[in-house]
Amino acid sequence: MMAIVAEGQNGRVYLAPTAEQEAIANAAQPQWKPDTDLPKEALGFRVQNYGMTKHADLFTPRQLVALTTFSDLVGEAREKATQDAVAAGLPNDDVPLNDGGTGARAYGEAISVYLAFAVDKMTDYHSDLCSWHSGRDTIRNTFGRQAIPMVWDFAEANPMSDSTGNFNGAIEWVVKVLEIAHPHAYSKVTQHDATAPHPHHDTTPKLISTDPPYYSAVPYADLSDFFYVWLRRSLGTIYPSIFNTVLVPKAQELVADHFRHGGHTQAKDFFEAGLVKIFSSSE
Ligand SMILES: C[S@@+](CC[C@H](N)C(=O)[O-])C[C@H]1O[C@@H](n2cnc3c(N)ncnc32)[C@H](O)[C@@H]1O
Repeated sequence: MMAIVAEGQNGRVYLAPTAEQEAIANAAQPQWKPDTDLPKEALGFRVQNYGMTKHADLFTPRQLVALTTFSDLVGEAREKATQDAVAAGLPNDDVPLNDGGTGARAYGEAISVYLAFAVDKMTDYHSDLCSWHSGRDTIRNTFGRQAIPMVWDFAEANPMSDSTGNFNGAIEWVVKVLEIAHPHAYSKVTQHDATAPHPHHDTTPKLISTDPPYYSAVPYADLSDFFYVWLRRSLGTIYPSIFNTVLVPKAQELVADHFRHGGHTQAKDFFEAGLVKIFSSSE
């Protein structure tokens, strides 16, 4: 530990840590960590050559303690919200959200979904790839761009502070989305491989609006795992079918990743053949 940033009377101050503060920081022992492998090589990933080969390596032990604690609390909050819903008169029907429930159990589970989103938002501000923005005197998040590059300085946020990376800030992001989402608008979300026939095919005329991936620009699936491992921990029992794989599925992903497809030509061919399949489909 090089320095502790604290609020002084006239702005931030940089203090040398005491031996006690260093000992406290070094004492953290996480009870859980995402022990899954990072891709050996992938577009935008540079950390493996520096010894980071597991998702767990992207977090310090102290960050792992904080994140697993918040993730555990999602489960506790779910139970409390369910009890509150029963007390408020919602049907105590024990039908899960995943089965279309609207009673007390589903209410508690819905609350836990939003809290789990906030924990995932926290991971962006609590990895060992968070650096220091010297111009703004603040912590940078992990995903300044859609990649996992090597970072040469490091700053650790305090999740209980009023500063960048605090838990209330993560909740505020989720609330902002909920405030503009229209719960009564008709929509149905399905997750589906676009190259496969549509499972709910019907002949109703449709307007199709799409935002397909763009060659090798973004390794979505590999990046998703950074968040998925935490979301799975927090919500795996609520949505067992969505989280039934240890990491996100990769084989069907339309991305021109030469590492995954064994060369640049093969990657381009795989990507283009997949897009042709989607857009020439009569389904
Ligand atoms: C450009 S992004 C879309 C971003 C989205 N419009 C948004 O604002 O968040 C392309 C998306 O296509 C997804 N994708 C890649 N291969 C796919 C496939 N075979 N079937 C369905 N989606 C796929 C990627 O995971 C990524 O989420």
